[in-house]
Amino acid sequence: MTTTETIAIENEHMPPFFKKTAVSIERGEGVYVWDEEGNRYLDLTAGWGVTCIGHAHPVIQSALNEQSGRILQNPNSGLTYSPVRSRLLTLLAEILPANLTRVFFSNSGAEANDAAIKLARKATGRHKVIATKGSFHGRTISTASATGQAKHREKYNPLMPGYLFVPYNDVPALSSALDEDVAAVIVEPVQGEGGVRVPSHDYLEKVSDLCRANGTLLIVDEIQTGFCRTGPMFAMDDTKARADFLTMAKGIAGGFPLGAFAVSEEVSSRFEIGDHGGTYCGNPLACAVAQNVIRYLLDHCISAHVAALGKVALDEMLQWKERYAGAVSDVRGKGLLLLVEFVDESTAARVMAECLSGKVFVCLTQGNGIRVFPALNIEHGQLMDGLGTLRLAIETTATAKR
Ligand SMILES: Cc1ncc(COP(=O)(O)O)c(C=O)c1O
Repeated sequence: MTTTETIAIENEHMPPFFKKTAVSIERGEGVYVWDEEGNRYLDLTAGWGVTCIGHAHPVIQSALNEQSGRILQNPNSGLTYSPVRSRLLTLLAEILPANLTRVFFSNSGAEANDAAIKLARKATGRHKVIATKGSFHGRTISTASATGQAKHREKYNPLMPGYLFVPYNDVPALSSALDEDVAAVIVEPVQGEGGVRVPSHDYLEKVSDLCRANGTLLIVDEIQTGFCRTGPMFAMDDTKARADFLTMAKGIAGGFPLGAFAVSEEVSSRFEIGDHGGTYCGNPLACAVAQNVIRYLLDHCISAHVAALGKVALDEMLQWKERYAGAVSDVRGKGLLLLVEFVDESTAARVMAECLSGKVFVCLTQGNGIRVFPALNIEHGQLMDGLGTLRLAIETTATAKR
């Protein structure tokens, strides 16, 4: 098959949801991918924050090989026990906040949030859910209802009832919105898709205190920030917040589709047989991969690597704010979740196109931002090469604008 054929077939047979880049990716290795014509690109998007230990990593290959030769899916799925699932649960118990003692698996992040919201309603007997403006929690009807961006909501009315929004990083606004009907507050420790917005250090802790005082459950959405993306294993590890639910996906299995929610013992004790389920609910293949990915993150001290490399990258990128003031309006982020915001969408689009010519993939975010969130084990030199291409793309664009 040629690139032209691949593109023509996808364009003909898929719904028109995406404005795609005309590149057809055939394979990947580490932080690099190759297109069908053999061109190599540096992937600074990690497949949207997913391939956290790089493409085609040997520990993922070995998990897939070994487990697929044993069993993929249990008889009666969740109704039977699985040694590989129990090993993953043991590992998750080591890394999750200590109060979150129970875990249930899904296939995606949206499903994990969906379940947490549904079960928070069941556990509290309340119906309202508070989310934040600019947030992103998924694309199912309930998670789109919890997403604080008009473009993800407006076209799908009627949405689920009972969802309210308060500005992100605004504690007084949340305090005023809480009442005895609020089942849950759902919040990202750093808003990712909303434009890499890092709140003040005590924000999550204050949100958690308000929820506790109101008998409201706190759902911390770590789908993008979890598994060392911002440095610590979970972004909330750096705070004193106490979650009732923590939702995960993306990095958990390094590219194999898997999601999960963790819940406290106390909240879990309010659940009963039949309250939740799913066909896969932690199938052995996904669990085997996740186990190897998490073990790799721990064994290779990826958390410290991300914290250190993230600082170096942010320092470099912050210089662009002054140097290219006519093009760059802001630079922000934490760990290896970074964003350059441009003065307008056309500037961001031009920079994106320049990066692609330089064989570097970055992620256009909110129209005027470029998100950089590579594999977490990216080497210093590889990241600096990629940032060099991005800087040059900004320089070319800024010069052309003058
Ligand atoms: C914070 C957050 N929550 C939820 C989701 C939805 O996850 P998924 O696309 O796996 O359903 C995403 C995806 O980008 C996300 O960033």
